[in-house]
This record gives sequence, structure tokens and C-alpha cells, in this order.
Amino acid sequence: MSVPMPFPVSLPMSLPVSLPMSFPMSFPMSFPMSFPMTTEIDLSLLSRRIIIVSGKGGTGKTTVSTALGLAAAAHGRRTLIVEVGPTEHVTPLLDPGGPAAGYAGRELRPGLHVLRIDPFLAVSEYIGLQLGSRGPVDLVLRNRALRQLLDGAPGWRELITLGKIWYLEQSLSPSGAPLFDLIVVDAPATGHGVSFLDVPRVVQSAVRAGPLARNAGLVERLVRDPDKTLLLPVCLAEDLPARETGELIERMRDRVGIAVDRVVINALPARPLPDDLSDIGERLAELPPTLDLCVLPEPPVLTACASYLTSRHALAEHYVGVVAELTGLPLVGLPFVMGGLRQPGALDRISEALLTQPQSPDEAEPAANDRVHR
Ligand SMILES: Nc1ncnc2c1ncn2[C@@H]1O[C@H](COP(=O)(O)OP(=O)(O)O)[C@@H](O)[C@H]1O
Ligand SMILES: [Mg+2]
Repeated sequence: MSVPMPFPVSLPMSLPVSLPMSFPMSFPMSFPMSFPMTTEIDLSLLSRRIIIVSGKGGTGKTTVSTALGLAAAAHGRRTLIVEVGPTEHVTPLLDPGGPAAGYAGRELRPGLHVLRIDPFLAVSEYIGLQLGSRGPVDLVLRNRALRQLLDGAPGWRELITLGKIWYLEQSLSPSGAPLFDLIVVDAPATGHGVSFLDVPRVVQSAVRAGPLARNAGLVERLVRDPDKTLLLPVCLAEDLPARETGELIERMRDRVGIAVDRVVINALPARPLPDDLSDIGERLAELPPTLDLCVLPEPPVLTACASYLTSRHALAEHYVGVVAELTGLPLVGLPFVMGGLRQPGALDRISEALLTQPQSPDEAEPAANDRVHR
């Protein structure tokens, strides 16, 4: 019996090549944070079929999705990064100035494809394939009044987008192997992210029978299958992102029923000083304020710099503890890359850190007198 294809879409991409790229697996000796980080590699992330990268806006979802895609392709997984927003962000990061990946998709590295799901194109293709001809559907969907009506209608975008992800997960190459081993979804920011994944459940509670309910059921089963789908929350070691991550995980588990096995804490500041210079602030403060240090600024300026760097680092460590306490999940820390992610090797550093063994939350909890008030 053939598998039902509720959201068929054509895939005009070239077939993925599973050539492992040369991928540096050496780890930076000085990991930026002092909460115990291992350099042990953990490839369990790459055994999933779908990883949904979510979190507050600006925390690094696109960065993590891209780095994860690179890491997976480097380990020989045929990988697809799916963008769901109105603008592409992954393609410019991997191929600055290059053409957009669009709905048809592009292979940007051997074995690494990117595509952007445009819900209007997905719905047009879906209905067109149901009718056996796409032309009239495109014409109808180009009608401005209808587009405005659809613009205001809730839920269909999320459902058709998840439907296409479902279809991509089911797609086979001519050899009969899955077209993609891993699909990484650069999901909408927190808030939107929850409703994005919750729509199939909501649709089924409203519509109990018929093709819509059936299709929503297929998508929901995929999202809730812990062997296939994982939510990967990304946050920063800061107050609001830490709290929102706690809420996101609670709602995702309770309402959506999706598996979450770790939290990524992005852009951790480097430990500013080696251990033997940890008291440099006090030592500088003892110097006469006008002492001539040749090319260096005066001691009070250096004291202020040292104090800023150490307190910034201490604050980040505190919030790592807060994330650990609020989520109770293992943590994966990613370094803040000085100078931005477009410089050579920057994304590789993120990829390497993403594939390290997650750290137990107990080792990063805030001090007892520092507990979080929920
Ligand atoms: N680890 C990092 N080190 C340095 N800059 C980073 C890091 N992660 C993200 N950024 C930068 O922060 C900004 C937001 O990251 P992005 O991945 O676009 O977030 P999101 O997709 O969640 O909105 C971008 O300019 C990105 O280059
Ligand atoms: Mg983004």
C-alpha cells in the first residue's frame, strides 16, 4: 500500500551527495565558560530525523541551525535546513551574495541543502496536485482579494508548512533511502514557535473527520514521535531569554508533546583572564592611579576593564545556572565568536561545540542562596 501523501511537493533539487566534508574535530583548548565542559563528542543529535530549532528572537536560532546543518553534512548525513520565515537567512550566511535557495532549494555544501517554505507556494502545489493541474490554482491564488483573505486566516500557514516538512521527511531517493537523513528547521521565534507546532493538535480538536483531520493527525504524530523529532531550544545566558526558555520548554512538553533533551546556551563570553590573573583587578587597584604604564592606559582604566570583563563573565555563569534550574535539562554551551560569524572557521567552532556531550544541569546550578523565583 502506498503511503498517503497529504502535502505533495515536487523536489527539483539535485540529489544529495553524501561526501563527508573535511571537518575539523579539534576542540579549542580554552573553552569560554568555567562550568565543566567536556570535549567528548556526542553524535546523538544527528540520529534524529527532524530537529526544530526554537528560541527567543536574536538568540542564535539561524546560527545554530546552520552550524548543525554543517556538522551533520560533515558527518555524512544528507541534511536539509528548512527556513520558514519570510526572508532567507541561512543562504546568505553560507553563500554571501549568492542566489536565494527559495522553494526549490539549493545544495550549498556537499550533502547540505537549504530551502525556504513559502506557505502560498506549498498550498498552491498541494491543491494543484490534488486537482492534477497547478496552473488554475496559481491563477486563483494570485487573486489579491483571496490572498488578503488567506492572510487573515489563522493556522493554515503552520499546517501546510509542517505538512511539507512531513512530506520531506517521507521522501525517498531513487535508491529507496530517505532523501534526507536529517531535516533542521529554523523555526519561528518563541511564542510563534509554540503555535507553529501546536496547530495540528488544535486543528484535530476542531475538525474530527475528513482529509484535514487526517493530515493534521499525520503531522502531529511526527512532531510527537521522540525517536524522530526533537525540539532544540536556543537561549542566551541572560535574564529574559533564560526565563522564556523555561516557559517554552514547559509549554512545548505539555501542549505539543515534543521531545526536548538539551538546551543550547549560545554566545557565552570567554573566560576573560587565566586563573593566575584572577585577582588582577585588586592588584591594579593597588597601583598609584597616575603610574605611567607606557603604551597602556592608566591603572584605574585597566581596573575598570578587568572588572567589566570578570563581572560580565560571572553574570553569564549565573544565568547558565538559572537555565539549568528552570529547565532541569542538560546544557550545551556555544562560544561567543569575536568578530562575527562570517569570518572563516567561525561556524565550524559553533558546529564543534554543538556536538559536545551536554553538561548535566546539576553542575551548573546557581548557588543555593541564588535560587530563581519563578
Ligand atoms: N555564538 C555567536 N557569536 C557571535 N555572534 C553570534 C553568535 N550567535 C549568533 N551571533 C550573531 O547574533 C545575531 C543573531 O543571531 P541569529 O542566529 O540570526 O539569531 P536568531 O535566528 O535567533 O534571530 C547575528 O548577527 C549572529 O551573527
Ligand atoms: Mg533567525
